[in-house]
Amino acid sequence: MTDGNLLTDQPALYEARFPDPDRLAGRWTEDCLRRHDAGPRVLDMGCGTGRDAAHLHSAGRTVTGADLSEAMLAHARSHHPGPAYVRADLHGFDLGVFDAVVCLDSSLLYCHTNDQLDGFLTSCRRALAPGGLLIAEMRNGAYFLGRTDLLDRPRADAFTWQGTAYRSTTTLTVDRTAQLLRRTRVWTTGDGSRPVEQRSAWRLLLPQELRHFLGVHGFEVVELHDGPGPRTQPPWQDGQLPGTTADADRLHVVARLRTTI
Ligand SMILES: C[S@@+](CC[C@H](N)C(=O)[O-])C[C@H]1O[C@@H](n2cnc3c(N)ncnc32)[C@H](O)[C@@H]1O
Repeated sequence: MTDGNLLTDQPALYEARFPDPDRLAGRWTEDCLRRHDAGPRVLDMGCGTGRDAAHLHSAGRTVTGADLSEAMLAHARSHHPGPAYVRADLHGFDLGVFDAVVCLDSSLLYCHTNDQLDGFLTSCRRALAPGGLLIAEMRNGAYFLGRTDLLDRPRADAFTWQGTAYRSTTTLTVDRTAQLLRRTRVWTTGDGSRPVEQRSAWRLLLPQELRHFLGVHGFEVVELHDGPGPRTQPPWQDGQLPGTTADADRLHVVARLRTTI
């Protein structure tokens, strides 16, 4: 059967499943912000559990975290205080003026359609002060051109959280018509509960397509690369500079809002 989103409905479980004890994603983001002289006001769109927003807050920034999930926002407020947390849809938002919008771990790819991408970038443009930055980190659609290693067979994972054993089987398929990567994940737990099936999808965004969208919306791309980043193998380390290729499975972009169009 299909339920809500087990992970975004249970943010503590999400953090247990995707641990980031060294705050790599937050540190990588802060490094990008500093390298490009961003001002202090940051909007984290699709902030999830709030751990990256809180890291940026601890680095001295004035941070707003926004997400569609009330469960994520409640967790962020209680576990990662400091930033302001608000409910907003990344397809269209108006939350004030910022020096940077960040969008981490494929949140941007919840813009499935071109209209949703246009809505997101129109909102970013409205949200950014002149010269403001958009920083995003996501799956790379180009990885799936000619590669099937992530599609060929279901992937099994297992972990234990608070004494309960969780097992998941994840199947990824490419929907070429919609240009989406569709995921079906079936969860079973050792406590005898019925299996839970969840479906999700991400836009398969190609690097040059993203560059085009950004240009149309008044952004200049200053970095577009496949790593190193917080979710690459090997992961980014302090002081490492961005690469120049966009071939591997993660895509990182830093774009600056042009002051003159
Ligand atoms: C994969 S999680 C990433 C969370 C966080 N950025 C991180 O790196 O840990 C994606 C997040 O996007 C949120 N999300 C999905 N669709 C959204 C939408 N249309 N507007 C705002 N947030 C959305 C989900 O609730 C979830 O918290």
